[in-house]
Amino acid sequence: MNENKIIIFDTTLRDGEQALASSLSMEQKLRIAKQLARLNVDVIEAGFPVSSPGDFESVSTISKEVRGPAVCGLARAVEKDITACGEALKGAKRPRIHTFIGTSQIHTEKKLRKSEDDILQLVKKSVEFARNYTDDVEFSAEDAGRTGKDFLCRVVETAIKAGAGTINIPDTVGYTVPEHFASIMDLIFERVPNVGDAVISVHCHDDLGMSTANSLTAIAHGARQVECTINGIGERAGNAALEEIVMALKVRKDLFNVYTDIETSELMRTSKLIRDICNMPVQPNKAIVGSNAFAHSSGIHQDGVLKAKTTYEIMTPQSVGLKDNKMNLTSRSGSHMVKSRLASLGYEEADYTLSDFYTKFKNLADKKGTVYDDDLITLMESKSSEDLEDRYVLDYLNVSSGKKTVPTATARIVIDGEVKQEAACGDGAVDAATKAIDRIVGFDIEIEGYHLDSVTQGREALGRVAITASAPEGHFVGNGTSTDIVEASAFAYMDIINKIARMKMFNKKIPPKIDISL
Ligand code: KIV
Ligand code: ZN
Repeated sequence: MNENKIIIFDTTLRDGEQALASSLSMEQKLRIAKQLARLNVDVIEAGFPVSSPGDFESVSTISKEVRGPAVCGLARAVEKDITACGEALKGAKRPRIHTFIGTSQIHTEKKLRKSEDDILQLVKKSVEFARNYTDDVEFSAEDAGRTGKDFLCRVVETAIKAGAGTINIPDTVGYTVPEHFASIMDLIFERVPNVGDAVISVHCHDDLGMSTANSLTAIAHGARQVECTINGIGERAGNAALEEIVMALKVRKDLFNVYTDIETSELMRTSKLIRDICNMPVQPNKAIVGSNAFAHSSGIHQDGVLKAKTTYEIMTPQSVGLKDNKMNLTSRSGSHMVKSRLASLGYEEADYTLSDFYTKFKNLADKKGTVYDDDLITLMESKSSEDLEDRYVLDYLNVSSGKKTVPTATARIVIDGEVKQEAACGDGAVDAATKAIDRIVGFDIEIEGYHLDSVTQGREALGRVAITASAPEGHFVGNGTSTDIVEASAFAYMDIINKIARMKMFNKKIPPKIDISL
């Protein structure tokens, strides 16, 4: 193996999954494993087979069905765990058994109640036993970050001697900081005589927000495998995020001079899959995969990016699987940005006076916050205040739903003074309401996203709903607020309908947005 290659060991399905509110089904795990294979990770830690029949089945199915990465199962340093692991991995082309035991004083004395000699015996026995199933055995010294130096070296030496080809140094509780981690790595490389017979791995948790920094430091100090999860999900504050480590190594190749085989253009797709299947939202400002990670808001930044993307982008959005960056139009946007967006909507400078339009834009942005493409078109096309009025007004909405009730909605809408009424059933209250509205309006709308926020606190809290939808006229965002979330949803949907109606009236189509990923 090339000494500059970093092995990417993904533990989303094991460390990540164990932290979820509800466990994933076998089908969900298989979908994730297949995407991890597309991402081209080197090792998939698929689960902890002894922990439940479901975990055993998942590891077994992934072993049989997923090709490419090595498939790994976790086992405590006890025979029954290792046996379950070996059995579950039977169908794998490249099975790996990952066995571990706590090595810090806190773990050995308080949790395991064993002496150091007992631990060393268990390390030896478990690694040797695992080798009966596969040549690819990994050993982890759990809580290595808080393990005494001498003992850690003896543990590592014992595990390598017993046949472990990978030695993992976990910072189980996210206690270390980069300098401290560097000293642990240096210690192992200097003091363990047989260290050259194994790959040294790192596995960092994020309790102090250091997991990526610690993992990178470990790599700089000789680690050649890094254990991580997509979106950084995992126990407590999570694990080091795969996307951060991989992109840091790529962007700062000048510093690290190592590489991974990750197909980085699959990062965004993988992140979204994990977000959706695991029901774990990604914070907007999350590095690499957050919705704002490639968004520019301030006028100065937007101006810079318009002139040369490298002014404020250290990696391309395409390199992580986005189509392009995102320029948020707000009151902070400069006139150049507005002009550029108008050009992408088909307006030539000769069609308008930039300074006049920019004043109108600023007024709207002050009121609205974010100005979307349909707002720009409306601002450009509307001839009188009448054009800005909503043509479709929700006059009445009645929704019934509950246990053993088919959700049903009746809606009444006033369109240019004419009253129309329809009813519909749906999969839920919101679905029934939007279907009833659809029957009246007859637009071709596909809802793409739904987001509910509580604006105020308490039982009577105001719910704010944002719906994103696409239609032949373009892509739209609608907002609605009410103490009743179904009503807020209906208002948000009506907001979209009125925006579409305006595009129809102006005979305009919003060109496909360049900043919408995937
Ligand atoms: O954090 C940890 O120590 C672990 C081990 C099982 C590797 O997850
Ligand atoms: Zn862990």
